[in-house]
Amino acid sequence: MSRAELKIGVKDRDLSFMVGDITKVPADAIGNAANSRLAGGGGVDGAIHRAGGPAIMQELGQIRARIGQCPAGDAVATRAGKLPAQWVIHAVGPVYRDGRSGEPMALRSCYERCLELSDELGARTLTLPAISTGVYGYPMDLASNVAVGAVASKLSGSETKVKRVTFVLFDETAFRQFAAAALDIVPALAS
Ligand code: APR
Repeated sequence: MSRAELKIGVKDRDLSFMVGDITKVPADAIGNAANSRLAGGGGVDGAIHRAGGPAIMQELGQIRARIGQCPAGDAVATRAGKLPAQWVIHAVGPVYRDGRSGEPMALRSCYERCLELSDELGARTLTLPAISTGVYGYPMDLASNVAVGAVASKLSGSETKVKRVTFVLFDETAFRQFAAAALDIVPALAS
């Protein structure tokens, strides 16, 4: 199997892309594609809970008791249990309907919240999945543009202390979409 990887500099920070299982890639913080109920599920959410163990769901239970639901576009953080990370940032992406129902704004916002929570936690490296592109049905080509645009513009700003963001994509097709979006968007940001 080929091991596709791409690394692009954004100011003095790194924006990377790789094919893989996000539960196996070490980082200070790992992004999860969660649901509003913070109740766990399949896809990357299921993989994160399986690999991290029950401590993550216990902590989510306490957060649920405090805040109720987490709306699409927002995120909450827990410790990472047995994952190779300190934190999991549970971001809630939008369910894709027609692209004109606020989905791009909500998707952009949940990536921005991942960076903001990383800063609050002191995380310097962050891995992210392609939020909303599985069960929630967001077309990968559209989602990749929103995701890369949101993260690259945060990395090019002065507020964040995050040094490296790595998108961990599950297959080569997703990787190619994200890489194409990055090669399109990042040079434009630099100019
Ligand atoms: N590592 C990296 N990416 C993964 C992994 C993994 N281990 N497993 C799945 N993916 C990819 C999928 O291929 C998809 O591109 O993550 C992307 C997001 O897919 P989903 O996990 O289905 O997330 P999403 O579309 O945001 O739907 C969220 O799914 O399981 C539920 O609780 C979750 O209800 C929520 C919904």
